Amino acid sequence: MVIPRRPSAAAAPPGPVQPRDPLDPTDRLAQSHPPHPSESGATPGAIAPPAAIRLEGITKVYGSGNTEVRALRGVDLEILQGDYCSIMGASGSGKSTMMNVIGCLDRPTAGRYFLDGIEVASLGEKELARIRNRKIGFVFQQFHLLPQLSALDNVILPMIYGGIDGRERRDRAIVALERVGLGDRLHNRPNQLSGGQQQRVAIARAIVNEPVLLLADEPTGALDTQTTQEVLDIFSELNRSGITVVMVTHEPEVARQTRRIVWFRDGSILHSHLKPEELTH
Ligand SMILES: Nc1ncnc2c1ncn2[C@@H]1O[C@H](COP(=O)(O)OP(=O)(O)OP(=O)(O)O)[C@@H](O)[C@H]1O
Ligand SMILES: [Mg+2]
Repeated sequence: MVIPRRPSAAAAPPGPVQPRDPLDPTDRLAQSHPPHPSESGATPGAIAPPAAIRLEGITKVYGSGNTEVRALRGVDLEILQGDYCSIMGASGSGKSTMMNVIGCLDRPTAGRYFLDGIEVASLGEKELARIRNRKIGFVFQQFHLLPQLSALDNVILPMIYGGIDGRERRDRAIVALERVGLGDRLHNRPNQLSGGQQQRVAIARAIVNEPVLLLADEPTGALDTQTTQEVLDIFSELNRSGITVVMVTHEPEVARQTRRIVWFRDGSILHSHLKPEELTH
């Protein structure tokens, strides 16, 4: 039997040189591939936790013809259960598009997505909505609270969609608001709360259905330094309690507090396993 030999790396012709990305503080590391955080220092033979998220060759194309935008160009990514991961990269590089796919808010044009081992493409709209409600919590830069509702009623809302009865809804909303330090602001409406407090209400709303995955798209983008730290402390605490956290951020000092950084460029992943200490500024 003839086994074809693979060409050795040394014999391969040199590939195209990647252009430098002036916005990429990790550029000096462009050729390095650090191991996954769960691998480094792991006991030999230890079993890695299962994947919370697995993307295989995900593409997303918006529009067609002259207006076509290829927002994701074949993204492969695995995020293990219990990880705390930040997504970075220049504006327009596809971060939010990927978060929308991960959060089942949008379907990819091609590729496969497994959430908690389930292939999302096989699910109908009803099942998808149920998974979004039960398994995933969302936090956005602009909070997206309903202005006419109190903090308590904003947090109760996802439980109404989830079919939980009235008494339990209220009790659970209070526990969630206490968990983010807002037990004394239950009846304030959003315009009676500071930006950081509004974001904490949004976090309480995101966790009240006890999701396995918390997705946050620039959650500290509208906050000052101190409030940013308060939000990050809550994320760390949620992650320690077992929730997988994935957060988009433009701020290196925010990303440094996560365990792993995924770097996007032009709809592709440039680095998938940067360590916080490898961000250069
Ligand atoms: N609904 C849409 N229709 C058409 N094009 C879109 C749509 N949403 C995003 N895009 C385009 O897809 C590309 C990726 O956008 P995306 O919002 O994912 O970037 P991003 O990395 O989140 O940027 P930012 O850091 O500015 O939030 C951009 O070129 C954007 O203009
Ligand atoms: Mg974005």
